[in-house]
Parts: sequence; C-alpha cells; structure tokens
Amino acid sequence: MAFLADRLARVKPSPTMAITALATELKAAGRDIIALSQGEPDFDTPPNIREAGIRAIQNGETRYTVFDGRIELKRAICGKFKRENGLDYEPGQITVSNGGKQVLYNALVATLSPGDEVVIPAPYWVSYPEMVLLADGNPVPVACSQNNGFKMRPEDLDAAITPKTKWLILNSPSNPTGAAYSETDLQGVAEVLLRHPHVWVMTDDMYEHLVYDDFEFTTIAQVEPRLYDRTLTVNGVSKAYCMTGWRIGYGGGPKPLIKAMGAIQSNSTANPCSISQAAAIEALTGPQDFIPVHNQSFKERRDLVVDLLNRVPGLFCPRPEGAFYVYPSCAGVIGKRTPAGAPIANDEDFVRYLLEETGVAVVHGAAFGLSPHFRVSYATSTEVLREACARMDRACRALSS
Ligand SMILES: Cc1ncc(COP(=O)(O)O)c(C=O)c1O
Repeated sequence: MAFLADRLARVKPSPTMAITALATELKAAGRDIIALSQGEPDFDTPPNIREAGIRAIQNGETRYTVFDGRIELKRAICGKFKRENGLDYEPGQITVSNGGKQVLYNALVATLSPGDEVVIPAPYWVSYPEMVLLADGNPVPVACSQNNGFKMRPEDLDAAITPKTKWLILNSPSNPTGAAYSETDLQGVAEVLLRHPHVWVMTDDMYEHLVYDDFEFTTIAQVEPRLYDRTLTVNGVSKAYCMTGWRIGYGGGPKPLIKAMGAIQSNSTANPCSISQAAAIEALTGPQDFIPVHNQSFKERRDLVVDLLNRVPGLFCPRPEGAFYVYPSCAGVIGKRTPAGAPIANDEDFVRYLLEETGVAVVHGAAFGLSPHFRVSYATSTEVLREACARMDRACRALSS
C-alpha cells in the first residue's frame, strides 16, 4: 500500500522550483545572479504598519483570535470593499486567512467534489491548477493569447463550461502577464456567466492597487451585481502594502460558503497571526499615500523593461496594465542554437540558457500554461533591470540560426 495519498500523484512539483534551485546553486558557486523571478515588491512594509505590529506585541495581542479573523479586521475589510469596490459585505461574509493563497485553497476544498471542473484562464498563477488538483477537482485551462492581451474571450469561456464546471478563477491584474480586465472586458465575461447559473466566480484581486496609466480597476461583482451571490472576492495585503511575509489575505462572499471555508480553517491552521491582523487593520484603515508613490516606481520600471526588451532580437514584450510582471514572447529565438551548439527548442531551454550564460533568472511560460513566453518580475531597481536586459540582449544576439 502506498504511503502517500493518491492525490499527490496528480500534483506536480512547482515548475518554478527547477529554475529557482538552479539559480541558488549557481549563486552558491559564486556566480553573479540577477533574480527577476520573485513575486513580491522590493519595498519594505510602511513604518506605520510595522509599528502597529509592534504595538500589538506590546499590548499582549498574542493569543488565539477568532479562527477566521478578529471582528475589527473584518470591519476594516468591509470598509475597504465598500470604499474601493462599491461592494456591500457584512462581517459574517468575510473570512481572513494566512494569505490570499489560503483563502483560495479553503474555497476549493470547501466546494469541489471529485470530477468537478474549474475554468482557469491561461497563462495562470502556478498555484491555481495545483490547488484544484489537491482539492480533487479538474483544472480546465483556457488559452488566452497575446493577441487578445492575454485576456479570456467570452466565447472561449462559453466553450469551456460544462455541466461539471463549478468555478471560474479570474485574476486581474494577472500574475504572470500583468494584464488587467477593463469594465467592458468583465461585462463580456459576466454575460457568459449569467447564462450558466451553476458556475461561480472566484476573483483574485491581489494586484488591485498596482495599475498604471489611469487604468481603472474594477471587480466582477461590482460590474455585474447579479453575480454577487455566486462570487468570492479575494484580496490581501501582501502586494499593495508590501506585507508578503505577514500572511494576511481575505475573501468576501455568500455566508454559507464563508462558513464552510471557516470550518476547514478552524480545523487546520485556525487564526492567521494575531500580530499580522493588527498590522492589516492599520494597512486597510491608515494612510494610503505610499501606494501611488510605489506605483510611480513600478510604472517607470515597467516602461524601462518593456522598451529595453523590445530592442532585443527575437523577443516581443507587450506593455501590461498592472502588477509587476511582463510576459514577453520568445517565439523569435525558438529553433536557434546557443554558442555551444545546444538547440533552443522551447521557452524552458531559453530561460535555462539565460540563467547559465548570463546569470539572469526568469521563469519560463510553460510553468504558467502559455508558451513560448517567459515571466520577468520588475520589482527591483532600475540599475539591476538595465543590467539584466543588457545581459539578455547579449545572450540573444549570440544565438545562431
Ligand atoms: C495571483 C496571486 N494570487 C495570490 C497570491 C497569494 O498571495 P498571498 O498568499 O501572499 O496573499 C499571489 C502571490 O504571489 C499571486 O500572485
């Protein structure tokens, strides 16, 4: 009898791990590595938020809290949803977890039975399909091409829905492409969902605040109130508030779903860290003025990277609306050979070549379900980005047909 559960056989080890492991190995061997593979802001948590955490420790807020979040934090989250998204949630419709990741996972475990399907626009965040598999469901990726701005066309969504579809997972702005759905884009998606009343939507709005060039963020329950009763709106403090290590994410949705998710959390991890909850209250209710300041830096970095990568032979880099990633195509280098004579047959070969030859670590598109592309995180300084792009340029020019 096998010791490990059958479901583990369906879950792949993270495809980003191989590249990360190689980068770490090369760094340990003394190589000069530039990692553009990270999924977090390079800014520190703002001081007022850090101080709220310190105060919580000093005030003795160091015990268990209610398993899915303190009422004060739930109220702050309701205030955020109302203020920023025009959504009315009451505290009983809110769950707080150890990061948005746990909110998504709880929701899938709470709702999927074997054979249930989850539609996932590709390219997708690497964890969605694996979480669906861990929850005994079947991920159904829908390819969203560069020509359509990496966004899902309503007709492709319609074609992917079957009687077994339980959820659509939307992520805007997206990890890995930075693409964001406009109100019109979301209306197109909503129209399809209205025709399929058995399908719920899980919207991962983690990068909500990271949008540029006057892009107006909006979320699906706001755009189509008739979907409110079957939407789980997921968000968190990791990205906009530079709090990746604090582990606070939250979701708003119908009470029976929130209650079921709470049953899972109360029996697994129980409450998210009490100190982090205090810091998250400050994040959501305190000054927000650092967000546009950070965004100005992110926008400048995005523009720099897009401009530099578009000068590299064989690459094409669209300019996305948000997040801190770009997702260039490397179609123009596929089929070429490295100076050592090795073929570049796919995007994984290409990122491996970049890492081994130039020390630049990026993540291949196959990991996110759409090739031939690669993901570059530009959450680092402009000097580092310039150097990385110069190295990629030299590496691409050294390839032969
Ligand atoms: C699209 C997306 N969703 C969710 C998360 C999870 O964020 P956290 O668990 O830190 O709240 C991430 C983190 O990288 C992400 O990129």
